[in-house]
This record gives sequence, structure tokens and C-alpha cells, in this order.
Amino acid sequence: MAPRPLVAGNWKMNGLRADAAEVRALATLLTDDLACDVLICPPATLLTTILDAAKGSAIAVGGQDCHAKVSGAHTGDISAAMIKDLGCSHVIVGHSERRTDHGESDALVRTKAEAAVAAGLVAIVCVGETEAERDGGKTLDVVGRQVLGSVPDAATPATVIVAYEPVWAIGTGRTPTEAEVAEVHGFIRAELSQRFAAAGAEFRLLYGGSVKPSNAKSLMAVANVDGALVGGASLKAVDFSGIINAYN
Ligand code: G3P
Repeated sequence: MAPRPLVAGNWKMNGLRADAAEVRALATLLTDDLACDVLICPPATLLTTILDAAKGSAIAVGGQDCHAKVSGAHTGDISAAMIKDLGCSHVIVGHSERRTDHGESDALVRTKAEAAVAAGLVAIVCVGETEAERDGGKTLDVVGRQVLGSVPDAATPATVIVAYEPVWAIGTGRTPTEAEVAEVHGFIRAELSQRFAAAGAEFRLLYGGSVKPSNAKSLMAVANVDGALVGGASLKAVDFSGIINAYN
């Protein structure tokens, strides 16, 4: 059976407390018979505010990153246990912006994913090639290496989600063709099946990169796409609900 889809919003470094109004508005737009799960990952400063705004709705809340350790002398960082303690269910790890801005390696991302799972969170592990890597015909090499290096050996479909986000599609308005998405998602599925046997078929694989209401239905219909990781279009309830509606 195909995994239940997840539409996740990554607010990145956007949002002030007043933006909780968007989450309250989203909650009113969601129907009771949703065919997918819904998640919002606001900046750490807003986790509590957004948890409050989402209370009583189908919207789950997650972090955008966590430290690999549970606690200690790591100024400015937050741990998975802290995110879990607030009432969150998920955390994104290894987003390409963290890999680029903070030099995060596959090994570090894997350790963060392990820390997230140990704390009781679902880890959303991000992978994806740069434009130069795609142009150089290296997409599957890069994605294969990232999946192998970043997904923990103890991952299960209940504890880890993989998000494919081609770096060149993030925030650019450009998306891969459906055939390109199908190729990479099929490849990730095959890699996970090789490594995790029958469970490989049950991992959720999200597509991320310039998903918007107008392209969500066709992207979400691609084989082995089990939902979306949405940046810009997750900030406004009207846009995000338009993407969620791809499943309704
Ligand atoms: O994590 C989501 C993301 O990187 C995609 O961003 O703005 O292209 O939807 P965006």
C-alpha cells in the first residue's frame, strides 16, 4: 500500500508571532476527511506559538533543524529533545540550506537524524543535487551518496521521511519535469528497498522545490512521490491549502 501522503511546510527564516493567524486560517480551510497529513515547520522562535495556533486541528508542527547532542555547551543550538518536549512531532535535517550555509555533511545529518529519532521525532532527511551536478549528469550519484550517508541504518518508515529537493528548484520557480522527478524518486525507492528490504516501499518520499497550487497536483501524481516539502508557498494559508487540496 502506498504511504499516506504528507504535505509539509518549511517556513525557513520567515514569520513573526502575528503569522500564527495564517495557521489558524489554514485550520479552518482543512476538511475533516483530509487525504494527507499536514505539517508546518516554523522557525524555532515560533514553535510554541504555532503549536498553540494548531491545537485541535489536523496540523502537526515540527522543527527545521536540531543538534546531534541531547544537551550541553552548544550556544545557539536546540536539541531534538527540546523540540519534542514542546509537543512537536517532526524535525527537518540536512536541508540544502543547512548543508550549504553551515557546511553540514552527510555524516552529521545522519547523526542529527539519529538524535531526532532517539528523541521520539520523525526525521525528514533532505537530499538533492545542485544545478552543476545535474548538468554534469551526476544527479543519481549525488542523491545516492546522500541517501546512503544521511539516512540512519536503524531508519524505519515510521521514523524517517526522505525529501528530494533539487537545489536549483528551491525558491526559483523552476521545477524538474515529471519524468525527472519520477527518475529520482524511483531511484531513492530502489536504494531504500535494497537497504531496508520490504520496508523500503513504505518510506514516505517527499518532493520539494517550487511546489505551488498550480503544479502540486501533477507533481504529487508522480510515482513514488508521497507528498511535498513546501517553502514559500507554505507561508500563506490560501496557497498552502491549495497544495494540500492536490490530495482532495
Ligand atoms: O524545504 C522546502 C524548500 O526548500 C522548497 O522551497 O520555496 O522552493 O518551495 P520553495
